[in-house]
Amino acid sequence: MLTLGIETSCDETSVALLKDNQIIANEVFTQDAHSLYGGVVPEIASRAHLDKIEIITNNIFSKNNLKINDINNIAVTDSPGLAGALLVGISFALGLHCKFNIPITGINHIEGHIFSILLAYPQIKFPFLSCVVSGGHTAIYLVKKIGDYLCMGKTVDDAAGEAFDKVGKLLGFSYPAGRLIEEKAKQATNKTKIEFPIAKCSGSNLNFSFSGLKTAVKNFCKEKGEEWVNENKSEICFAFQKAVIDSLLRNILIASKETGINTITVVGGVACNFELKNVIKTNFGENAFFPPPYLCTDNAAMIARAGYERFKFDITRFPSMSPTRDL
Ligand code: KG4
Ligand code: ZN
Repeated sequence: MLTLGIETSCDETSVALLKDNQIIANEVFTQDAHSLYGGVVPEIASRAHLDKIEIITNNIFSKNNLKINDINNIAVTDSPGLAGALLVGISFALGLHCKFNIPITGINHIEGHIFSILLAYPQIKFPFLSCVVSGGHTAIYLVKKIGDYLCMGKTVDDAAGEAFDKVGKLLGFSYPAGRLIEEKAKQATNKTKIEFPIAKCSGSNLNFSFSGLKTAVKNFCKEKGEEWVNENKSEICFAFQKAVIDSLLRNILIASKETGINTITVVGGVACNFELKNVIKTNFGENAFFPPPYLCTDNAAMIARAGYERFKFDITRFPSMSPTRDL
């Protein structure tokens, strides 16, 4: 069975093809125009998706000697995301659905991230815990099966990746700053020189908060002055990264204890972070799973994988745009 995946929720235009649960193609075009502005500009994103989506799709079909008619199922991200950006992918997918009469399903972007782990580790069995850590989302889900998720806790303000990007901006790194902060943190010689607080949240004890951490870094830098900050940037990056990782670890440990589930999956752009992987693997060993980096950041293969699962169990849903809807 061939599934076509389409992802345009933010600043990656991505189209993928899956044969059953195997990736045949996964093309990702990352829009670098946004780095000029220090964050994603919605109008630029929508127009860039429009420019690319048909070209990427045609390339995939010609490279693989396939025709649109060979597709059995279309999976398209329909929420959450930037409204205009989502609209490009959904309209394109609906066009194919109508013209070629191919079944279609809408996929929640977070659901896509959750299923990215099964592309790399098909042996993982339900139920498992999924910590989704990206630029737009930070949450822990108990994943019972396709379409059945219990959100055990989520961020009450910024997402973890967003905190990396905002702290990166104030330290003078370009957008997105996650990988750059990680690289800088590796150069820290004194790892105990600075300590930033981990926020305690109201509501569920599994909620996260990262905006206080960002403010703590900002105030700390203001107090120390530019020269000191420049001389100690590696130590600041290390301490910030440690605070984020400690906060994620604390909640994952509680979620595992509360549910009795030891299979821990960590997905989304921040799951590229090697130190995070190290820390979680130190605690959960072989029961901790991280996708390879190209499946952590936004891609259409993960959308197609969730679409394949929905199709298999006959729980497809017609794409409807609701840009802020949660999983
Ligand atoms: O999943 P993703 O591509 O997009 C969203 O769905 O948001 O995640 C992008 C986020 C950015 O905030 C970026 O700074 C962060 O992932 N990121 C990292 C690393 N690589 C990417 N954060 C920490 N360490 C990294 N190595
Ligand atoms: Zn994402």
